[in-house]
Amino acid sequence: MDFKPANNIQDLQYFGEFGGVNPSISDSSTYTFLSAKTMFDTFEGNADGCYLYSRHSSPSNLYLGEALAAMEGTETATVTASGMGAITPVLLQLCEAGEHIVSSRTIYGGTYAFLKNFAPRLGIETSFVDITKLDIVEAAITPKTKVLYCETVSNPLLEIADIKQLAALAKKHNLKLVVDNTFSPLSISPAKLGADVVIHSLTKFINGSSDTVGGVVCGTQELIDQLRNVNDGAAMLLGSTMDSLRSASVLKNLRTLHIRMQQHSHNANYLAEKFEKDGIKTVYPGLASHPSHDLFKSMMNTMYGFGGMLTIDVGSPEKANALMELMQERNLGYLAVSLGFYKTLFSAPGSSTSSEIPEEEQIEMGLSDGLIRFSIGLDADIERTYNMMKDCMIELNILEPELA
Ligand SMILES: Cc1ncc(COP(=O)(O)O)c(C=O)c1O
Repeated sequence: MDFKPANNIQDLQYFGEFGGVNPSISDSSTYTFLSAKTMFDTFEGNADGCYLYSRHSSPSNLYLGEALAAMEGTETATVTASGMGAITPVLLQLCEAGEHIVSSRTIYGGTYAFLKNFAPRLGIETSFVDITKLDIVEAAITPKTKVLYCETVSNPLLEIADIKQLAALAKKHNLKLVVDNTFSPLSISPAKLGADVVIHSLTKFINGSSDTVGGVVCGTQELIDQLRNVNDGAAMLLGSTMDSLRSASVLKNLRTLHIRMQQHSHNANYLAEKFEKDGIKTVYPGLASHPSHDLFKSMMNTMYGFGGMLTIDVGSPEKANALMELMQERNLGYLAVSLGFYKTLFSAPGSSTSSEIPEEEQIEMGLSDGLIRFSIGLDADIERTYNMMKDCMIELNILEPELA
């Protein structure tokens, strides 16, 4: 595959309103029309290039959307106020009452909670499946199924979805394959592998500063137009609009994403190899021991690595909590949810980001209570970080001194 997402970002060229190298920020909620007729046409969706009202679209949001569409290789994109503000309108746009979704069971807890607890209130049911087992996925499809939903790299178990095979299944059964690519920007380009819709929480690696929430839906012009339709568009009517000042700042951060992803991946790979060698149960797609290591390799755009996320299992929640507290005390990172920051972030998903998933289901999917999820930072000296982490593990009897 010869898709170069970072080149597409590099090649974007801007001449701002006053010749600035950054586009001017559109600091307006509403826009003037020189004629009443154009206003009417814009409401009807027939006046390209005219802005109406910023919940619908704004120049700054369109700039960011187009940059992300270029990155994912889709026709276009629309940005939203959060990742959930991208996921929920897409699913509600694609499904009506009485219809059905087949979803991976290892997905972000908020998405899981939406599908499990909220969507049924609107008559939309979901079957949760092991996305790595294509026969099980296919068996869950019913005549009412409209959407196949997964994360490329799942949160928090780092399972890898076989996007090409899932896209073939979706095509066979006339479904839309919706993929959340939050954990693997640049590394994997789901639309190029056949996904119909690609979603990101921009909050994470893409913005990379942990200073805002944001989201994006990348897809066809037809879908994005439907989402923005003033009469029945879920993005327009549910109102999860990104603020223009924020979209301008996310666009600026996007330009360094390739450098950051390379460093996140380099550091995560280094630590994963070391932890595994030390005998710690480690999950990282870059390790040969990962069940989908070869699959990831077959889908990836080279250069950006296997991503910045890894998990270790230290055996018990008490040990996990003690380790996270000690690592924070030693300034190795923050005990915090979320991901994609310059510092390492760690949390125990069972009691935090996946706590929406009932305990027995957590056990069934292999989400153990001693699991720590790491979003590895941009540390300049990862060997120093490793040595300090190892010291913490020895101090807490997670590692034996002689093994370390
Ligand atoms: C994989 C994934 N998708 C979606 C979301 C939701 O994004 P946001 O918090 O920006 O709404 C998250 C948040 O943690 C996530 O990890």
